[in-house]
Amino acid sequence: MQTATPVAPTTQPANPNKALWEKGDFTRIAETMRASGDALVEKLGIRKGMKVLDLGCGDGTTAIPAAQRGAEVLGVDIARNLVEAGNRRARELGLGNIRFQEGDACDLAGVPDKSFDLVVSIFGAMFAPKPQDVANAMVRVVKPGGRIVMGNWIPNDPTLVAQILKISSAYTPPPPAGFVSPMTWGSEATVVERFAAAGVPAANVSCARDTFTFDFAGTPAELVGRFRDFYGPTMNAFDAAQKSGRVAELQRELEGLFAAQNVSGRADRTTIAATYLRVTVSL
Ligand SMILES: C[S@@+](CC[C@H](N)C(=O)[O-])C[C@H]1O[C@@H](n2cnc3c(N)ncnc32)[C@H](O)[C@@H]1O
Repeated sequence: MQTATPVAPTTQPANPNKALWEKGDFTRIAETMRASGDALVEKLGIRKGMKVLDLGCGDGTTAIPAAQRGAEVLGVDIARNLVEAGNRRARELGLGNIRFQEGDACDLAGVPDKSFDLVVSIFGAMFAPKPQDVANAMVRVVKPGGRIVMGNWIPNDPTLVAQILKISSAYTPPPPAGFVSPMTWGSEATVVERFAAAGVPAANVSCARDTFTFDFAGTPAELVGRFRDFYGPTMNAFDAAQKSGRVAELQRELEGLFAAQNVSGRADRTTIAATYLRVTVSL
């Protein structure tokens, strides 16, 4: 009797970038960032019917306010759980002009050339592993006369997120050879270089410092808990610290940072402004 040839299971090779963001639940951090997301979108001059792509959109901190101002919005994110959360929020808000789908900022496969008036990526595309491919993809999908607006954390900046990422990386094993730090997107010279390589003259790239405020109904230590439990990079740092016996040290360092930066003036609230580089590219 003939036996059937065994068929190997078709498994996708693991994508560490996707795994990092699906490991946590960024919605639990994003909840503290809504007012700044809305304020940033207010500055972008959204008009009814404008076609907007939000890249690395999470659950829609900026994508949803853009749709609420009448844009036709596509949110693209690598993390399936965040895409589901975004679509859920859009449904709950009764927004029919926004859709969230899975995708990778490194190639934007399936997104047609020259199809958006505005590409927004706030602390999103900066985390994709191939930055030049990201710049090329963003430029490819913008219409002539359109814009790209990125929000990028700044290397060595003393404010919250740059410091969380710096502290977290000090507890995490060194990245693999060839890894390019997401923080390089916070250097103006590097940003100009990447867009130049994607065909955009330096004169069409402008950078400004801006702030995003985290506002949380709890103590600084409780907000550290949110990052420890739900923010991929901090979760990985705690996993590594667990193995090296340094959890208490990491916890102390983060609690010190959050407490020092809290400007709420109240014991039961945490309000922290973080500086970022706002990049505007005109095509
Ligand atoms: C810090 S969160 C910011 C989310 C959202 N923009 C916000 O401000 O709430 C980073 C987001 O980038 C997404 N991301 C990371 N790498 C990506 C990639 N290669 N392509 C698309 N999205 C990516 C993550 O899944 C996550 O939702």
